[in-house]
Amino acid sequence: MNCQKHLFNLDPEITYLNCAYMSPLMKEVEQAGIEGLLQKRQPDKVTGDDFFANNELLRAEFGKLINVKQINRLVVIPSVSYGMANVAKNIPLQKGDNIILVGEQFPSNVYPWMEIASQNDTHIKTISPPDEIADRGRLWNIRLLEAIDSKTRLVAMGHIHWADGTLFDLKAIRKRTLEVGAWLVIDGTQSIGALPFDVEELQPDALIAAGYKSMMGPYSIGIAYYGEALDEGTPIEQNWINRYKSEDFASLVNYSEEYQPGALRYEVGERSNFILIPMMLKALQKLNEWAPENVQQYCRDLVREPLERLRNSGFIIENEKYRASNLFGIRLGDHHNMDRAKKNLQEAKVFVSYRGDAIRVSPNVYNDAKDLERLVGALNSRKA
Ligand SMILES: Cc1ncc(COP(=O)(O)O)c(C=O)c1O
Repeated sequence: MNCQKHLFNLDPEITYLNCAYMSPLMKEVEQAGIEGLLQKRQPDKVTGDDFFANNELLRAEFGKLINVKQINRLVVIPSVSYGMANVAKNIPLQKGDNIILVGEQFPSNVYPWMEIASQNDTHIKTISPPDEIADRGRLWNIRLLEAIDSKTRLVAMGHIHWADGTLFDLKAIRKRTLEVGAWLVIDGTQSIGALPFDVEELQPDALIAAGYKSMMGPYSIGIAYYGEALDEGTPIEQNWINRYKSEDFASLVNYSEEYQPGALRYEVGERSNFILIPMMLKALQKLNEWAPENVQQYCRDLVREPLERLRNSGFIIENEKYRASNLFGIRLGDHHNMDRAKKNLQEAKVFVSYRGDAIRVSPNVYNDAKDLERLVGALNSRKA
């Protein structure tokens, strides 16, 4: 695919390589939000059907992106922590069981497990990366697989590490979790849309993702897939719209014991958000038009040669096989200094993040070769 910068409103004076912090909005996504805002000027025009129709379109579009046919397994959530809380409320745990987490994982995929682990006398095993720089990604994957044992009830992780883009072999992990009867819960916030993910093939128990990063949507909306293991569970809140026949507004006080089918019981209250849903929908339509494999390939082609140059000047970057290209960490070798790197990047108006000991760079389809040129120039600059 070609560079899509023209679809965005990025400031031409800056170089934005920070999608992992927050993606910019496409002009079309902005417009959908403005229209959603203005709709409330005339509430007489908001119909009962408007509470449902766009959510159905959103489910269908998200289902297409991650290969889910039963779209009532897909629900709107406001945040990753919310999506994880539904899992935490329903996973059966016993004393002596264990939960496997990846080291330095994003907190919204750690705190829910800390809480249920302490309530159930369950042990959390956090699998840190190896100290070795060479072969780090491969060895980390091996460590993860080796940590899963007959007491493991849950593995909760990302497809890629949020801080340095290390790529995890979810297929191998799913195979091992099925062998021991553990749930697999994935945080796709930094990868969905930019890296292919196939629910039918992988069969995770839950996939949770915030919408404002690689999915290019607005803030405060995300999407969750919940598998069969959660079918009879209890949601963290009890909302009218998630109950059977909620479409029939006249009968809402004929309170129902039953929920809507599939995973719809887990959808957040006021899920029909008239501003955020149309924005997220527009963004997902665009992602499906591009296709995640093409987005990843675009990023791979964009960064390959610049990263080779950085490696040649002493920076440390994981092998392409064990990291994503839409998000990766650059570590400083002996010849480089973090304060100087930060200052030079700031002066060159190159926007990246700093996570742990890595400079986190996260390009996407609105970046071009010039952006990467500025990154390499700033990092290689000898200015103090
Ligand atoms: C991997 C990952 N998950 C989740 C989030 C956001 O979590 P929440 O939606 O709970 O604020 C982030 C934000 O940086 C993230 O990087």
